[in-house]
Amino acid sequence: MLCTVATLKNSPQFLLPLLFALISCQPAAFGGEKKVVIAHRGAPGYLPEHTLESKAMAYAMGADYLEQDVVLTKDNRLIILHDVHLDTVTNVAQLFPKRARKDGRYYAIDFTLAEIKSLQVTERIDLKNNTAVYPGRFPIRSGKFEISTLKEELELIQGLNKSTGRNVGIYVEIKSPAWHRKEGKDISRATLEILYSYGYRDKDDNAYIQCFNAAELKRLRYELKTKLKLVQLIGENDWNEAPTDYEPMKTLKGMGEIAKYADGIGPWIFQIVKGLDKQGNLIVTSMVKDAHANGLKVHPYTFRADSLPAYVSSLEELLRIFYIGIGVDGGFTDFPDRVVKFLREAEYRRTQGKK
Ligand code: G3P
Ligand code: CA
Repeated sequence: MLCTVATLKNSPQFLLPLLFALISCQPAAFGGEKKVVIAHRGAPGYLPEHTLESKAMAYAMGADYLEQDVVLTKDNRLIILHDVHLDTVTNVAQLFPKRARKDGRYYAIDFTLAEIKSLQVTERIDLKNNTAVYPGRFPIRSGKFEISTLKEELELIQGLNKSTGRNVGIYVEIKSPAWHRKEGKDISRATLEILYSYGYRDKDDNAYIQCFNAAELKRLRYELKTKLKLVQLIGENDWNEAPTDYEPMKTLKGMGEIAKYADGIGPWIFQIVKGLDKQGNLIVTSMVKDAHANGLKVHPYTFRADSLPAYVSSLEELLRIFYIGIGVDGGFTDFPDRVVKFLREAEYRRTQGKK
């Protein structure tokens, strides 16, 4: 089901709160449970993704959760890395020129942790043209950053939780479990082992596990019997992220199926707002409403100030649509400071009785 909201295009900023109140299919959800900010790969809007420096910055910016994408090394160590490849964020091709596979890529699973620790992490590079994926961010091939292990990151977060008195959570994505299995490794078991050893064990612990692979999430729940909160990431089938069909998930019935094994969903923002119709109205799908009707949290990805959908002209405008207009429960962002500030100001306005 698609729903439309009041005309936004060319609307004066001061009219936006009123316009959002006109959303017909999904009521604003502010004032209920706290909405959360998930630092997507740290604070990559400012420092290279997944480095401890970026995580510390995101922590200090006030994020509620820090995200960890995890993959395995040759010697079975869990490292924090977005891709199974090393080449888009390190100098692996310069240091180990003969270690690429036939496809020309350098896989973390072919390197020991000691080798990986010798690499220099850089701001993400587009291999097609050797330039920065996000030109406005930290300079590429600059600075001194390294890949960290999951253990190192958990110790950073738990240490900061102790020294600040805060309780920032973890949000671990198990990357490509089916691919890891083909390579002879069980990344889910390895992840659970480390999380349990650091005290993340129960539903009430401040931790989520996310995965694009539905079969693996079911395995985590039913075979490995984890009690930790699980989030079904929802991609598009043509991304080939996992052997999972996402189309049936995008329905009320599909959300009911997810709710049997997971606690929330992580959809792509374009699956929630498809754009503008010919009249300039936002086209909002029923995904958030269907998920909420099944008791699922909704944490979409990714709110980026430097890669905005065409229907908005600022990050704050986008956040207003998702957090206030549509009522998502949280979201992944490359700019945790901006989302924290936005939510604080929105909450202040709410307590003052202002829109
Ligand atoms: O895990 C949520 C979001 O991070 C999914 O996208 O590709 O950045 O891992 P990706
Ligand atoms: Ca992720």
